Amino acid sequence: MKASEIRAMKDAALAEARAAGSADVLESIRVKVLGRKGLLPEIMKGLKDAAPSERPEIGLAANELKVQLQALIDSRKAELSRAAPAAGKAPFDPSLPGSWRGPGLRHPLSYVIEETVRIFARLGFTVADGPDIETDYYNFDALNTPPDHPSRDESDTFWLEPGRLLRTQTSPVQIRVMEKAKPPIRIIAPGRCYRRDTTDATHSANFHQIEGLYVDREVSMADLKSDISFFAGQLMGPGVRVRFRPHFFPFTEPSVEYDFSCHVCGGSGCRVCKQSGWIEISGAGMVDPRVFSKLGMDPETTTGYAFGMGVERIAMIKFGITDIRLLYEGDVRFLEPLSS
Ligand code: PHE
Repeated sequence: MKASEIRAMKDAALAEARAAGSADVLESIRVKVLGRKGLLPEIMKGLKDAAPSERPEIGLAANELKVQLQALIDSRKAELSRAAPAAGKAPFDPSLPGSWRGPGLRHPLSYVIEETVRIFARLGFTVADGPDIETDYYNFDALNTPPDHPSRDESDTFWLEPGRLLRTQTSPVQIRVMEKAKPPIRIIAPGRCYRRDTTDATHSANFHQIEGLYVDREVSMADLKSDISFFAGQLMGPGVRVRFRPHFFPFTEPSVEYDFSCHVCGGSGCRVCKQSGWIEISGAGMVDPRVFSKLGMDPETTTGYAFGMGVERIAMIKFGITDIRLLYEGDVRFLEPLSS
C-alpha cells in the first residue's frame, strides 16, 4: 500500500470517528483499524514488499494513522461519557460533597522540632541556622576538639575533601552565631547531622539535632538545669523529671549528659527504659572558656551553657516508635496513627 493510500484511509477513519455517536461505534472503528486483525497490522505486514525507498514514508504514514486515530478515539470516548454516562451510572453531580481526605499531619520529626522551638521561644530563644557542609574549623577546631579526637576519624565523619565535611553535630552553629552576635545570646539551632553509622533500628547516618546556646554574664548550671527541666515538662508532660550525669565534651566544661524520667513507667522501670527508669536524651554543659577565648570573647566575664538533643530519639520516645527507619520511609500507614 502506498503512503498516499494510507493517508486517505486515515482521513476516512478520522472522519468516521468524529461522526461516531457512541462508545460502541468508536470501539468498532478501533478494532477495524488498529486491532490485532485490523488494517494497521496489515499495512505493517505489507511493508516488506514495498520498495525500500518508499518504506520510510509508508512507516511514517502508518504511525500517524495509529497515533492520531487512537488520540481521537480516546478524546471522543471521554466526551461521550461526559455527555451521556454509561447506562446504570448516575450522571456526574457537581453539587455532591467531595470525599473527605482529612487534614494534613505534621511528621513526628517536624513536630519535635517545631514544639522545641516553640517552647524555647517562650524563654527568649530565637532560631539560628548553619550549613550542612561545614569546615573542620567550625565542626571541630573552634569547638576545642583536639586534632587527634576520634570523632574526626574517617570512620566517624563523612569527609568531602580535606577540610570539608558533613557536619556531625549542630554545635558549629554556636560558633557561627558567637562570631557575629554580642551577648546576651539565646539561640536554638535545629538541623541535619551526618555520621558514618551503619543504619539499624536506632542508628541513621543522617539524623537531626537541636542545639541550644545561652551566653551572658553569670550564666550557671542552675540556668541550664532549670531551662532543660522546663522544656522537659512542656514537651513530655508535667510529671517528667530530669537527671544530669557527668560526661565529657571538648567544648563544654563541666559537661553532662541528661536523662528524662521514663514517660512509660514514670521511673519505676520497664522495658522501654531497660528497667533503669531513665531515658538518655543528650549532652550539655557550660561553654568551655577556651571556646570564648578562641572567638576573642573575654573568658573571665563571659559565661554560657549549651545543650544538644537528638530529634529522632525524642520523637521515638514521645510516639513510641521502635525503629528509626520508619521515620524516613514516608509511609502514611505508619505516620497517620501518630497524629492523634
Ligand atoms: N554536640 C554534642 C553531640 O553531638 C551534644 C552537645 C551539644 C553537648 C551541646 C554539649 C553541648 O553529642
